Parts: sequence; C-alpha cells; structure tokens
Amino acid sequence: MKQEHKLFKGKTLAILSGGGDTPAINSSIESVRNRASMLGFKVYGILKGWKGLLGDGDVVDLTHQPYDGLYGGTALRSSRTNPFPSKKNPESRVPQVLKNLERYKIDVLVSIGGDDTNGAAKRLYETEGIPVIGFPKTIDNDLRTKTIHHYHGKEIEAVLCPGFPSAAMSVAEFTGKLKTTAESHSRIIVLEVMGRDAGWLTGSAIFGSADLALIPEVEMTRERKDFFFEVVRETYLSAPKKTLIIPVSEGVRWFDDKTGKLDVVYASSEVDEYGHPRFGGISGIIASEITNRLKIEARAQITGYYARSGDCREYDRRLTMTLADKVVDLLLREDYGKMPVMKKIVTYPELEEFNTTAIDMGNVGNRPLPEEYFDSNKFRFTDAYIDFLSHIIPLPQFREFTYDFPVVIPEG
Ligand code: F6P
Repeated sequence: MKQEHKLFKGKTLAILSGGGDTPAINSSIESVRNRASMLGFKVYGILKGWKGLLGDGDVVDLTHQPYDGLYGGTALRSSRTNPFPSKKNPESRVPQVLKNLERYKIDVLVSIGGDDTNGAAKRLYETEGIPVIGFPKTIDNDLRTKTIHHYHGKEIEAVLCPGFPSAAMSVAEFTGKLKTTAESHSRIIVLEVMGRDAGWLTGSAIFGSADLALIPEVEMTRERKDFFFEVVRETYLSAPKKTLIIPVSEGVRWFDDKTGKLDVVYASSEVDEYGHPRFGGISGIIASEITNRLKIEARAQITGYYARSGDCREYDRRLTMTLADKVVDLLLREDYGKMPVMKKIVTYPELEEFNTTAIDMGNVGNRPLPEEYFDSNKFRFTDAYIDFLSHIIPLPQFREFTYDFPVVIPEG
C-alpha cells in the first residue's frame, strides 16, 4: 500500500502511561505504536502521564524511532497526576489538557493505565468528547476486565491485566528462592506482596511453594487472628523441614491488639492525587506477633518493587500485542471510550485477537479476588485459583533437596 493511501494519514495518535509502572508497559506502547503507524497515524508519546499535557506540554515523537518493548517499565515515564479536581489538587487542569490536545493536534488518545488513569480518560471522553481508547495495566490485576475463567463447568469472573503475568512470575520465583534460607533457620517468613486492596498477586507466591496466605478481601478480626495463629502452628509443626513461607497482601486488614481497631498498615500518611494512601509494613507486624504468640522464629520480607521490576515476560508480551490488535479494530471503527480486554482466561497460544473484546471504559472499576479463589477457613488459595494462574505462568523449577540423615548416637 502506498503511503498516501493509508487510512489515517495526516492523523495523530498519542499514547500516555499513568499510575504504577509494570514490566509490560513498553510492550504495550510499542505494540500500539507499530499498529497505529501501519494505519498511517503519526504517533506521539506524552511524557509522565497526564502531567505531559499540562503547561506547555511534554510530548515526543515515537513514529520512526527504535523501541524496546521487552524492557520493563515505561520509557514514556509515569505519574499519578489527575487532571480533574481532587482533594490534593482542587483546581481543574482539564482546560490545560484540552488546550494541549489541540496545540499538538492530537486526534486520538490511548491511555495506558489502571482505574485512575483510564477513569480520567473516560471522563474526558464523556464530558469533552475526546476520542480515547483505554489500555489496561496493573500488576495488582484488580481492574474489572470481565475476563471469564471457565473452571469445571463454572464461569468465574476473573481479571487479566497486562503487567500481572510478569509480576506474578517474579513473585513466584522470589518466593521459591526464599525457601533455602527459611529452611536453614527453621523459620517462618512472612512475605509481603503488593496489590493494594486485592489478593490476586499474593496468590502467585504459591507457585513458589508458599502455603498459607492472607489477602485484603478477608478481614483479620481478633477472632480470625486467633484461628490463624492456630493454623500457622499446626502447619509449621507438620512441615517436614519446620519452615513456612506465608505471603500476605500489603493491604491486609489486621486487628491491632493495642488500639482495638482493624486497619491497613500505611507506609506513609501521604495520599496521591487520586486519594490513595501507600500501604506497607504489615509483614513486620505479623512476623513479630507470630514470634511472640507461638514462640517460633519469624522474619518479614517485603517483595515490594521487585514484583514490578525487570523485563516483560513472554505471556505479557503476547497479551499486549493481542490487545493492541483489538485497538486496531477500535480505531478502524472509530469506536472510542472503550478498552480492549481478553474475553476468557487462555493459555499463551490462545492469546489471539478473536479471543478479545472491548468493554465500555465507563464500566471499569476494581474487582477483588473472587470468593472461589480463596478458602478463608483454611487461609489457602483454592484449586480454582491454581487453575487460573496455570493458564498464565509456568510453575518455576526449583532444586529440591530432601534429606533424612541418620542420627549418630555416641557409643558407650
Ligand atoms: O497499583 C500498583 C502498585 O504497584 C500497588 O501494588 C502499590 O501499592 C502501589 O502501586 C505503589 O505505588 P508507588 O509506586 O506510588 O509507591
């Protein structure tokens, strides 16, 4: 096809990424950029999320530039800037955004983000008529993508967000490695995992041989705590190597014996422009309560930004390309205010455009971990969750060393 015949020649599509980064954002940017360029669009990158559309704007041209989609994070950088009025910033910056969209002659905007970034994009579409396409992103996997998991004749409303597969793989590997140090000291390691108010990512630790777990969806009241400590004691004592790794979500609601209140542990009192506080520190509290109550040595380890770091994994790479194929469909039909998602939970080879659909960005919200995925009486992820995860990540291989040395009895 000759350049002049390209459908969108003379049009500009801009991409921005907002919120916490993931290992799959560059892959999303590259996949959308490549496809939009083929349709004839000039492709711009807006730097630092919505911040790049404030003031004089901060915009780069991605059209004929080399791009490394396997490299994690986002080359467009990110921010938690909210163009709409918020408690932290009561002034509306929407007029600045509109002015820059016009100055840079941006015809279509692709916003890569979670609920916050895409929520703002959705409002711009609804209130100002800006042609917007949302692209899902979060390691927390809590964006309501309405992706169905078919499990033993049941349809479970699951979630599949780019970024989660890579982060889940990293958490599983991290957990599996911790085993050797935990075993050496016969310790319990309480492993804190990101995910905000949802336990999706915490579950991936079970692919690294973790056992019991705590998630934000199950409140840890005084009574549940007592029960939990009993289960921990029994599980620890029956473990052949007298060791346990317990993944806990950063957003677990934990009863504080001193204050008598049930709350999340905050890393800071600051909130971002979308009103979110930062969580962190629950693992230390749980580890010290285990030591005090059960007299078993326990330590805390925070996976933190490790889960978000590093290269894009294979599943995420193909997932972002597949969703970008759906973006082409939306562009061709000029169908805006939508977000491409997978219709069902599929394995790597089934990540194909025919398994995608587009949902109204207006319906996007948070999706906690479904009840079917966690047994709150056993503090364990269920077989249904294992089935969900095994579609997305392989079971990492770890060296096993089972020993049973004969005990030496001194003679005489
Ligand atoms: O929402 C993604 C996320 O990684 C959460 O899991 C975590 O609570 C938060 O971002 C951390 O945010 P920040 O990058 O601002 O520390």
